[in-house]
Amino acid sequence: MTPEDPYVCLCLAVRESEIRTAIAEGADSVARVGGMCEAGTACQSCHPQLRELLREHAAKQLARSRAPESLRQISLFDDVVEPGRRTNTPSGSHKR
Ligand code: FES
Repeated sequence: MTPEDPYVCLCLAVRESEIRTAIAEGADSVARVGGMCEAGTACQSCHPQLRELLREHAAKQLARSRAPESLRQISLFDDVVEPGRRTNTPSGSHKR
């Protein structure tokens, strides 16, 4: 386990990046996340973390929908997915 991409679902050994990918590809509930990457389909103790990742994604989508078109074009709200790096660092951030 790396601190940059921790396991969220220990039962199925599913990392945070895999869950974020499932959510980005359309999983909009804990059940659908489980259907796409199996996270949360065993003991269910990771469900609060799955819900938090879903909430975070929804909040980001809401912010994107409310942003002026000019800001949306600079991908300020896009997830940055690179191996070994957290996935929610905004583009252009100095915290790389
Ligand atoms: S920790 Fe995710 S199902 Fe058990």
